Amino acid sequence: MSLNDLFEAARQVQAKAYAPYSRFKVGAAVRGESGAFYTGCNVENAAYPVGTCAEAGALAALVAAGERRIAEILIVGDGEGLVTPCGACRQRIREFADADVCIHVAGPEGVRRTFTLDELLPLAFGPDNLRVARERAE
Ligand code: THU
Repeated sequence: MSLNDLFEAARQVQAKAYAPYSRFKVGAAVRGESGAFYTGCNVENAAYPVGTCAEAGALAALVAAGERRIAEILIVGDGEGLVTPCGACRQRIREFADADVCIHVAGPEGVRRTFTLDELLPLAFGPDNLRVARERAE
């Protein structure tokens, strides 16, 4: 699957976003290590903090399909700015991605910038940090 396929998948799911409050629709498409891809959109809520980001939906779909590793991820939103993942979503991505995984940030016309996870979340806390404690408990 090409980067353009990932972009098209994210664009399609972006159109389905439920964003009546911000009116800012976001789509995310993740390619798992199997090559399959998973999509998600933001789903807002009248109780604002309960809303979820597009990335969270795409990652939930990846896990629900039985996958555990992200090969690459693309996020698309409208406007001039770069729709980089929020802080919480950077940490969500960290759980299933290596430091060198590419995070593509796109606008309606296509990919604008590509970052590695390490660029967006340096010195990240992740599953490895808990390994010592887990092994001690076993
Ligand atoms: N949003 C995402 O879904 N992903 C991002 O990477 C940035 C922000 C959503 C959350 C909220 O529904 C709307 O965009 C405005 O913040």
